[in-house]
Amino acid sequence: MTELRIGMLGLGTVARGVVSLLQRNAEEIRQRTGVVMRLVRIGTREPHITWGLNLDGITLDTDVDAVTQDPNVDIVVELIGGLDPAERLVHAALNHGKHVVTANKALIAQKGMGLFQTAQENQRSLLFEAAVAGAVPIIKAIRESLAANRIESIHGILNGTCNYILTEMRQRGLSFTETLAQAQEKGYAEADPSFDVDGIDTAHKLAILAAIAWGTPPNFSAIHIEGIRQITDADIAWATEMGYRIKLLAIAKYRDGGVELRVQPTLVTLSSMVSQVEGVFNAVFVKADFAGNTMYHGRGAGEQPTASAVVGDLMDLARHAMGSGGGRIHPLSVLPHYLRALPVHDVADLVGEYYLRLAVLDRPGVLAEIAAILAKNGISIDAIHQKGRSLQEAVPLVIVTHECRERDMRNSLLELERLETVREKPLIIRMESGLV
Ligand SMILES: NC(=O)c1ccc[n+]([C@@H]2O[C@H](COP(=O)([O-])OP(=O)(O)OC[C@H]3O[C@@H](n4cnc5c(N)ncnc54)[C@H](OP(=O)(O)O)[C@@H]3O)[C@@H](O)[C@H]2O)c1
Repeated sequence: MTELRIGMLGLGTVARGVVSLLQRNAEEIRQRTGVVMRLVRIGTREPHITWGLNLDGITLDTDVDAVTQDPNVDIVVELIGGLDPAERLVHAALNHGKHVVTANKALIAQKGMGLFQTAQENQRSLLFEAAVAGAVPIIKAIRESLAANRIESIHGILNGTCNYILTEMRQRGLSFTETLAQAQEKGYAEADPSFDVDGIDTAHKLAILAAIAWGTPPNFSAIHIEGIRQITDADIAWATEMGYRIKLLAIAKYRDGGVELRVQPTLVTLSSMVSQVEGVFNAVFVKADFAGNTMYHGRGAGEQPTASAVVGDLMDLARHAMGSGGGRIHPLSVLPHYLRALPVHDVADLVGEYYLRLAVLDRPGVLAEIAAILAKNGISIDAIHQKGRSLQEAVPLVIVTHECRERDMRNSLLELERLETVREKPLIIRMESGLV
């Protein structure tokens, strides 16, 4: 029986899940791959802490570089996170002839191309299913099951922390700040939540999905990113009243030889499946020319779900790269010489409907003034909602527009902000139709 020797970098949350899974399901893994997977070495900063795991027979020390060079290691699993030293270590492992599996979305989204190049030069595989949506097998779905299709669009709820916060705000009627504090207490949000709530984590994942869907280098820096900090409980209540939910969506669409890439809070209709994805769950909706609409839903993070994806990649390597097939899996689906950079459309040119929230003094003529600014910019109004009346204090006014260009909407916002009767910075949320 072939033995596959694994070296692991890091012994954090996901790594501990990988150790448990390799041990608990060893027999299933052996029967499904014909290979015995043996964890032989772990490099970690605190090798004296074993977290109650059975680490007998595993070399455990602080020398992470040694893991990438050890001739007794066939595959390196990178579970340190971040760019440095992860990038250096993954290059080193590939250059030393190891296949690599990682869960590191920041690394793949920002440094992926250099790493794929090194993998190619060394005829090794670099797999990263766990980097997007945890246990949800979305990379495999796009790269393998949907491989024959032209992908038209991808919509994803890719950050459990944001989805949890938006769900709790709606269900409990709490503010963003209160809900974030609760999420931090429960361990659903980091002490520094910016990566999550400012949309960066979602954008890393979107860059990876778009790269695989359209055979293009990951283009994280071209993504238009907005997070959820500015969403108020009032926005959530308005959305509910109007038959919508607010979701932080990662959106990628292919059109006119280019791609649209954005991460934004978005209004989705209550009848859509995406609106029903609640709490810490992730979901991805893919529209493809032959397959039609498909949806993938599940746990996007956590020790066990993420370990499931990491070990799934290890098993792929066992079956393909190292097994009788001998073929490598190309990281971005297409053969390397077919990779091409795609132009990214300017968000200002997008056309859509908008939810516009203003805080206004309810004086005679205010509505006319606002409507005139919108009309001047070519924006027509679908509906107006106002609650409360006050000549002294600002009251919320919500306007839903018909389709208009984002550039015209932004120009209107600049003018609206200057009105004496508009008391706070206006907020727009895009409305996304046509979702399953
Ligand atoms: N957690 C999830 O649910 C999840 C889901 C999907 C993907 N991921 C990805 O999986 C990766 C690991 O995440 P995690 O949640 O398991 O992180 P974690 O719990 O913070 O674990 C990271 C581990 O790496 C160690 N480490 C960090 N820098 C190191 C260095 N320079 N040398 C040696 N060891 C070092 C840490 O040691 P110390 O404890 O001493 O710092 C810790 O043991 C990340 O890329 C993350 O984005 C995580």
